[in-house]
Amino acid sequence: MNVIITENYEEMSKKAAEILIGIVKSNPNAILGLATGSSPIGTYKNMIKDHKENGTSYKNVKTVNLDEYVGLTKDHDQSYAYFMRTNLFDYIDIDQNNTNLPCGSAPDTQKECDRYNALLETMKQDVQVLGLGSNGHIGFNEPNTPFESVTHLVDLTENTIKDNSRLFASIDEVPRQALSMGIKNIMQAKSILMVVSGKNKAEAVKGMVKGEVTPALPASVLQLHPYVTIVCDKDAASLL
Ligand code: F6R
Repeated sequence: MNVIITENYEEMSKKAAEILIGIVKSNPNAILGLATGSSPIGTYKNMIKDHKENGTSYKNVKTVNLDEYVGLTKDHDQSYAYFMRTNLFDYIDIDQNNTNLPCGSAPDTQKECDRYNALLETMKQDVQVLGLGSNGHIGFNEPNTPFESVTHLVDLTENTIKDNSRLFASIDEVPRQALSMGIKNIMQAKSILMVVSGKNKAEAVKGMVKGEVTPALPASVLQLHPYVTIVCDKDAASLL
């Protein structure tokens, strides 16, 4: 694992964006695995800025996102589809037909998981962007998800519901379920780029980098991947 420690969130975001922009420049047909949440917002802002100032093009880039809440349509302002449009896709020259997320409002969730798994088989990510849950989750693969898992329906843990409630009007509005790429789908990426910041992630970062490889801390599986870069601010790295 290549661990890059930055002074703060802003520096973390610049560094992570540099890495992603480098991948797109060297391969204009790159397949980017993307994440939502607070962690990558600054990274996406830097990519937008670079697109405007330097013209880095996403015309031929394709994307696959990690996850989506169950029960929200793609136009719901808390859906991850909406998040991706408003934090990145609407501000770069990507063809939105080339962007993919699991569909949270699909009537048959198992069928939707099967569709997404089949898609991922044809779309091996050149890089998969990840955030880190304070409980060590990646995507919505909560503690004790098998490493062999593929896209599946997840019951979110109380911990994750509480963490994510900051973005909703009240905790009751946070969806209780999500569709998430499994750990196997994440590990198929040619490289992994994790962005992580804040003291509340420090325990999980320590376990991920230095602890035992165990499903109890899903992110520890990344120790088994040959090309992982973790860009973390010094608060998140404080227990390393
Ligand atoms: C988001 C995702 C989650 C988040 C994680 C951290 O697509 O899959 O694993 O990356 O919950 O969330 P933030 O960045 O909001 O702290």
